[in-house]
Amino acid sequence: MKGRAVLEQRAPRIPFVDLGAQSRRLRPEIERRIAAVLDHGRYVMGPEVAELEAELGRLGGASAVAVSSGSDALLIALLALDVGRSEGEREAVFVPSFTFTATAEVVLLAGALPVFVDVREDDFLLDLDSLDREFDALARRGRAVPKAIITVDLFGQPMPEHPLREWAAARELEVISDAAQSFGARRGGQPVGSLAEVTTTSFYPAKPLGGYGDGGAVFCTEPGALEVVQSIREHGQSADRYDVVRLGMNGRLDTLQAAVLLAKLTVFEEELAARRAAAAGYTERLDAVSTSVRTPWRVSAPECGAGVESSWAQYTLRVDDRDGRPSSRIRDALRAHLDRAGIPTAVHYPCPMHLQPAYRQYGRGPGSLPVSESLALRVISLPMHPYLDEAALDRICGRIAAA
Ligand SMILES: Cc1ncc(COP(=O)(O)O)c(C=O)c1O
Repeated sequence: MKGRAVLEQRAPRIPFVDLGAQSRRLRPEIERRIAAVLDHGRYVMGPEVAELEAELGRLGGASAVAVSSGSDALLIALLALDVGRSEGEREAVFVPSFTFTATAEVVLLAGALPVFVDVREDDFLLDLDSLDREFDALARRGRAVPKAIITVDLFGQPMPEHPLREWAAARELEVISDAAQSFGARRGGQPVGSLAEVTTTSFYPAKPLGGYGDGGAVFCTEPGALEVVQSIREHGQSADRYDVVRLGMNGRLDTLQAAVLLAKLTVFEEELAARRAAAAGYTERLDAVSTSVRTPWRVSAPECGAGVESSWAQYTLRVDDRDGRPSSRIRDALRAHLDRAGIPTAVHYPCPMHLQPAYRQYGRGPGSLPVSESLALRVISLPMHPYLDEAALDRICGRIAAA
């Protein structure tokens, strides 16, 4: 054991996300694409933006509008659906509490009230029973009028379309799919982009399809919504630049980012397959650990629903004590143990939104969304990227077994 520990200390640190390996692979194509932009000089809304939108539309199965970030994509989607603009009562938007802050912040930026909803233990997706309860509680309190739901495809797994779609339609609620982490994923063979009327995604560098800076996209299945989203992205203009027909913003994607993303799209399908292989490799090894090694803790591998091809933005485990009780102490000890062996980990996310100082006033306090609160103590994300090889998987899972 001692010899192995020394060897591992000498082994290079495993990258959490390996953008270096990707850029080495794609460098000539990225440079060719960037040079083309420098040659034509159309840095804002140059031809690469339309070319990228056509490619995104093909992959996402819906019309795509390239925008400045995943957060702006969400804000534009809310504005396009007129959320938060009512002159009368305040409008409410249901959002899962176990998510990245952008999902909640845009609701307030749009002028609406976030209503936090719990998620499911096994797949981290919005829990319809909790949604139902929060909907009824909102009606009883009468604080705001329900207007929309933002679902989140956490860690890359698409939210099931049904029965949410019927539930929302019966209550006349809009549904926005926050697919910041799941572009490239499919459910029942249908690509993310086509699973909700309005879907948003992010091209933050560490995302499955990431640029070299900020970027995002909005996907619309309705031609009417598409036109509105395009207009909001450019200050609410109509086809005439100085004819401002609605509230908008500067939400454009830079031409240079579009050029980088086009280069990255040449290997995107291959990279998705490599992420899926890495996730399967993790699950197989970790299942073997939990059946063969007696440890004072246990890890649960992430679960995918039937017919789901996740984009595996993250590979996130739940860590409990041997009796299945949540324990941040055990989780943090495992993280420290892996870190000493050159294996970085992350916690997505250490605090659910309803307990964050910025949003606490909109939630119902500790104990109100128990699954989100418990996950925040137990989750740990392992390195995940398309260039993770078998040796790295062996090393990571071997260290987990030896913890
Ligand atoms: C679930 C979710 N929504 C929205 C965003 C915001 O995306 P961006 O960083 O591109 O603004 C992120 C980014 O991490 C995210 O994970």
